[in-house]
Amino acid sequence: MLVASNRGPVSYAVADDGSLRSKRGGGGLVSGLSAIGPESGALWVCSALSDDDREAVRRGVGEDGVRMLDIPAGVHADAYNGIANSVLWFVHHMLYQTPLEPVFDAEFRSKWASYETYNRAFAEALAEEAAEGAAVLVQDYHLTLVPGMLRELRPDLRIGHFSHTPWAPPEYFAMLPDDIARQVLRGMLGADRLGFLTHRWADAFTACCERFAGGLGDTRVGVHGLGADADFLRARSHEADVHERMAALKEEIGEGRRTIVRVDRTELSKNIVRGLLAYRQLLDDRPEWRERVVHVAFAYPSRQDLAVYRDYTAEVQRLAEEINDRYGTPGWRPVVLHVKDDFARSLAAYRLADVALVNPIRDGMNLVAKEVPVVSDAGCALVLSREAGAHEELGEDAITVNPYDVVQTAEALHEALSMRPEDRTERGKRLAAAATALPPARWFLDQLEALRGETGR
Ligand code: G6P
Repeated sequence: MLVASNRGPVSYAVADDGSLRSKRGGGGLVSGLSAIGPESGALWVCSALSDDDREAVRRGVGEDGVRMLDIPAGVHADAYNGIANSVLWFVHHMLYQTPLEPVFDAEFRSKWASYETYNRAFAEALAEEAAEGAAVLVQDYHLTLVPGMLRELRPDLRIGHFSHTPWAPPEYFAMLPDDIARQVLRGMLGADRLGFLTHRWADAFTACCERFAGGLGDTRVGVHGLGADADFLRARSHEADVHERMAALKEEIGEGRRTIVRVDRTELSKNIVRGLLAYRQLLDDRPEWRERVVHVAFAYPSRQDLAVYRDYTAEVQRLAEEINDRYGTPGWRPVVLHVKDDFARSLAAYRLADVALVNPIRDGMNLVAKEVPVVSDAGCALVLSREAGAHEELGEDAITVNPYDVVQTAEALHEALSMRPEDRTERGKRLAAAATALPPARWFLDQLEALRGETGR
């Protein structure tokens, strides 16, 4: 069995003494796939993402079961930043803002050529590594062309592709140049089986195929909603480093205050700015919460090669400061914002959460919405965007918001903060049960079994 994704389970950093240190990869995809350890016998093919990763490949440093591809930095930058994260991510999350974007010009075409080269490098490596009849599970929007390319090289393989993002509805997908739209769909349709996180994204994909590619052909489409890993999270969140960070956070929050927690990559689709605007609105509309609540917001750096992400990060920081300047008092900092990635601190915040705020504009699933109810000590209330994939499973016990409506989101925060403790505990339990229904190991095996069960072509 082989897995292919842009980001792999490890990344490397050259230390001051010249040695290479390894670090666990981040993000929803890697968390979901964490269930596959070396004992599974699987090979995980991923890309070098930095010069230090490339150095590791050149020195022959690596982990069992992982093959990192040394794709030239310029090709990778164009494919990953220029196409995957600036075009395909924006299309599926419906993030473009007219009149400025998008513009599909000659520069776009040249980046697209790199995207093809990058996809071909994966297809060739997989073709080289796969045993006769092996199952290959290709991941995400970075690698949409791989199934079709691999099918041509190795018709004997069982090929699956899984999307961790939403899929755009046909009216939005149609903004891609016609030939590119068809190429993406045909690339995906090279797979025997395609997986999506929710019915909504699967249906959108099917609709795009009907409109632009003459239907699904022989490819089957399945829905596998990735859940949180309860055993791992509960054990990890009671380790010593988490306790230390809880103590530090409690200091920052202050005695007897409620906490509204959010943890995200600093990502446009996560809608952090509107989350802060909603919190500001809450402090305006409901002054009774002043001094009695703290918004703990962790916004970890992401995709900082893209100017639009850097600007967004700056805006998040500016707004948090503005709220603190305007409402803060000597003993109360209304927003506690941290931007340095720290998993133990995230778990500490989860444990302390009274309310979790998850308000993405659009999100494939959103694992934070599933993790906080599992970890929080007192059972937390969840304010959840109707546009998160997780809403399909958690909507009944969450407080649902339209992510664009900051007045409604402020009111939802008030409702969450005011929930009777026994109701909150009850709902929290139901949320945790729904959130852990399909743990990563099961999610992964389900896909593999479904792929192996396909009759082939
Ligand atoms: C999302 C994508 C993943 C990606 C992750 C982190 O969850 O679906 O494919 O790995 O974001 O983004 P990054 O660009 O840092 O890999």
